[in-house]
Amino acid sequence: MAVSVREAERLAAVLYGMSAVATSLPGEYDCNFRLRSSDGKEYVLKCMHPARKASFLEMQCSALEHLRIKAPHLPLPRVQRTRQATLFTEIADSAEQKRLVWMLSFLPGRTLEKTNPLSSEVLENLGWFLGELDAALGMFSHPAVHRELKWDSSRASWIGNQLHRIEDPSRRTLLEYFLSLYDQEVESRRSELRTGPIYGDANDHNVLVSAPWPQPRKIAGVIDFGDMHHGWIVSEPAIAAAYALLGKDNPLGVARDIARGFHRSFPLTEPEIATLFPLIAVRLAVSVVNSAARKEQKPDDPYVTVTENQAWVALERLAKIHPRFAQYALRDACGHTAVPKTEKIKIWITQRRKQGASVVEADLRTAPLHVFDLSVGSSMLGADLGNAEIHKLTRAIFERMQREHAAIGIGRYNEARMFYTSSQYGGDEAHRTERRTVHLGLDVFVVPGTAVCAPLDGAVHLLAENTAELDYGPLVILRHETDDGDEFFTLYGHLTPETLRELKPGQTIARGEVFARVGTLHENGGWPPHLHFQVILDLLDRGAEFPGVARASERSIWTSLSPDPNLLLGIPEKKIGPVESTVEETMPRRRELLGGNLSVSYRKPLKIVRGWRQHLYDETGQAYLDVYNNVPLVGHSHPHVVRAAQEQLALLNTNTRYLHENILRYAERLKELLPDPLRVVYIVNSGSEANELALRLSRAITRCEDTIVLEDAYHGHTNTLVDISPYKFAGPGGVGKKPWVHVAPLADDYRGIYRRGEPDLGVRYAAHVEEICRELQSRGKRPTFIAETLPSVAGQIVFPPHYLGKVYQHVRAARGVCIADEVQVGFGRLGTHFWGFETQGVVPDIVVFGKPIGNAFPLAAVVTTRKIANAFDNGMEFFSTFGGNPVACAVGLAVLDVLQEESLQGNALHIGGLLIDQFKALQQRHPVIGDVRGSGLFLGLDLVESHHTRRAAADQASYVVNRLREEGILAGTDGPHHNVIKLRPPLIFSEADAEQFCAALNRILHEDPAQSAA
Ligand SMILES: Cc1ncc(COP(=O)(O)O)c(C=O)c1O
Repeated sequence: MAVSVREAERLAAVLYGMSAVATSLPGEYDCNFRLRSSDGKEYVLKCMHPARKASFLEMQCSALEHLRIKAPHLPLPRVQRTRQATLFTEIADSAEQKRLVWMLSFLPGRTLEKTNPLSSEVLENLGWFLGELDAALGMFSHPAVHRELKWDSSRASWIGNQLHRIEDPSRRTLLEYFLSLYDQEVESRRSELRTGPIYGDANDHNVLVSAPWPQPRKIAGVIDFGDMHHGWIVSEPAIAAAYALLGKDNPLGVARDIARGFHRSFPLTEPEIATLFPLIAVRLAVSVVNSAARKEQKPDDPYVTVTENQAWVALERLAKIHPRFAQYALRDACGHTAVPKTEKIKIWITQRRKQGASVVEADLRTAPLHVFDLSVGSSMLGADLGNAEIHKLTRAIFERMQREHAAIGIGRYNEARMFYTSSQYGGDEAHRTERRTVHLGLDVFVVPGTAVCAPLDGAVHLLAENTAELDYGPLVILRHETDDGDEFFTLYGHLTPETLRELKPGQTIARGEVFARVGTLHENGGWPPHLHFQVILDLLDRGAEFPGVARASERSIWTSLSPDPNLLLGIPEKKIGPVESTVEETMPRRRELLGGNLSVSYRKPLKIVRGWRQHLYDETGQAYLDVYNNVPLVGHSHPHVVRAAQEQLALLNTNTRYLHENILRYAERLKELLPDPLRVVYIVNSGSEANELALRLSRAITRCEDTIVLEDAYHGHTNTLVDISPYKFAGPGGVGKKPWVHVAPLADDYRGIYRRGEPDLGVRYAAHVEEICRELQSRGKRPTFIAETLPSVAGQIVFPPHYLGKVYQHVRAARGVCIADEVQVGFGRLGTHFWGFETQGVVPDIVVFGKPIGNAFPLAAVVTTRKIANAFDNGMEFFSTFGGNPVACAVGLAVLDVLQEESLQGNALHIGGLLIDQFKALQQRHPVIGDVRGSGLFLGLDLVESHHTRRAAADQASYVVNRLREEGILAGTDGPHHNVIKLRPPLIFSEADAEQFCAALNRILHEDPAQSAA
């Protein structure tokens, strides 16, 4: 190297009076060094390539000085002055070559290239940052900015006569395609593109991102102003996007994020947005041509090909995106209507409605019709997707129409639906997990053979038969023109094959003319007979492949491409009714109507409208694997449980003052599952009500309030239960411990006072309870001991062996009562045993059940001994209005049936075992996993900052569950430090579910914010 590290240190001393240690930095041309001065500050010393001119350096220095003054809020390198107060100076290197030397402050941060994940927030912030930067550079001037630079997007056509350098003909064709797009879309707008000094080099090595925490990460600066030039403003976000999208599955999503951010600080004009996509592509094209040229000169230089391969892949991906769709998507990101002509055409169409534009012979404005709710959350079909099977769906639709005396049924526009189940509606490369669900047309359900007429004058544009499962079947597209000559189309799907035979492309069709007929379910693509009617403003060269269903994340783009057909048809809005409101619309209503401390899960709240087996579905139809909701024990909406509730509710639901078999049957079934002397059953409605009752039962015999609880325990939300729940009374808003409450240390062998590997853990932890019992006994008190048999809220804790056995001995020695709170862990979840207390070899005096007992139906129970029940039976009536009602008991019985019939305890054991093995393997790879614990499908991953200190990694845990949610998996955190990822899925959880969860977890644990600090 022409400048050594030693020399750099000497230069720092001589030129800057700085004593510093230098390390070499990678660079293509110049010799750059990182300096750490004796006062701990860091700098970059740049010894420029001998060919660099002073004017080039002067431009960069004055631009950075300009930005220091005009945009002090932007973190940027600051130029350090020499001892002579100059911004740079000249030296002779070891080869006697003259080099210009300057020094900058060092900017901490991770390069964009090394940032994982490159989230939407970071990308948007990058756009914003560059917009601010260019806005501040607006008034900057320097002669060297007006330079001829091969990277200047306004000069990109130079690559046109360099394409011979690309050997592969298909790659050459790819570049020719993007160059012609550039000619078409960019050259024609030259005069409309604003110019100014731009930074021009936001590549993934030059952009720095802040540390993973705090979230969200921000741009921590950009370095290297060597490509600054006077160019098109819109080149700035285009260049940034071209680099940021390398290696990304969804390049358009990346470009949208950057454009959105840039537009926020430096609003782009519509012509500028129209050039953005071609400019992104052409930047990559320039990059690959440049690499090819450099490779010819320096065949062995790896620096040249750094981004080349990724750039080719990106170009191939971009070529698959229709450029007009890209333009619409980018307009949408910048807050414009996606398709420029949408509003104008909507007005024109709406005016046509007055003339009576219908697609069937009846006038839909006045005809008797039934509007269906086919949304994800519609109760019409239930949660079982099997009900959308063609014959069932057809029957459901036409029976309903018959009942409503309507010959016409309407399926709504812009409605997210669940029944697009075939593979063509699944995820694609850019949207791995997101299915297409949003209906872009309007359905007209009518009997097969019904005549279809043209709502407007038009001409046959296209006839096709799409035979794929759940496709359009036979379809016709008509072409129309507004009075201003704007073209648009209407699509008619699910027709008869004869329709296609009777029409010819180009044939004109007059308004009101019958031109098609509705097909049967055997010929129409496999749907209940109906017409799918859709308006399309731009076919995007897709012809018959134009989608009738879109992804919710692209809803605003597609609904702009396909506006509401009812603008034309005029079915009264009050008949159509509103579509499901979005999260953004729902949140303020919730805040307004409900108590503020009713918390909402996840940074991006979820609106859940359907649950089926181990999945929950949001209002857009996206599925979430439910990994932590232990209430739907046998799966969401289990048909056997649902039927039991529905049938009983349709017959009778009343209180326990009348005799009824259900409560007795249920009490008998529970008793069969419990050991002696647990013989007397009470049925209530919630875990809290059950724990309240358990305390009353205990106090009836002890005649004493004193209660022993464990650290961090939670037993319910009523006054008394908050008093005995350290998680609440010692937490935010809590009023502290009552004198009659006695807290024993949590027998947590990972983070507690005695730890795994030490002897007699159970005995030693139990000794603390013994001490409390002794003290109470000495005051003539009889204690109640209440604990979860495996504490869940305290962090998915598994007690050490013999713990509860010893505790119960001590409590009983003090003539106390032992309550087992099985609200979370009971009913087979643990795999090895049906009840948690069995894992410890004890039998409680009172046992409390809740949550999963009714598979989400309000039901809870308390079971105790005859002796305690007799003491409680003291003359005061026990009555809970809804407790033990016939519906609840029918549900409880159904849950027990399913548990048995589907062998779910065994499944919990099997899948839990697989999960534990996989978690232990992940623990080897990811030091953030401190502990893996649990049993069956009651599992916890304890995340730590370091294995040594076991300091809780709460930020990382919160990050992981929020990222899992983005990946379509619902998990939560628990424990006093909120660092334990809890897993308590429905017991029907499968091997595939376990695989899905572990793969996503592994991916996320590789991301920067999930790393432990150590
Ligand atoms: C261990 C335990 N006991 C009792 C309860 C109270 O149950 P519920 O919310 O049904 O009143 C809960 C609720 O989270 C719990 O976790």
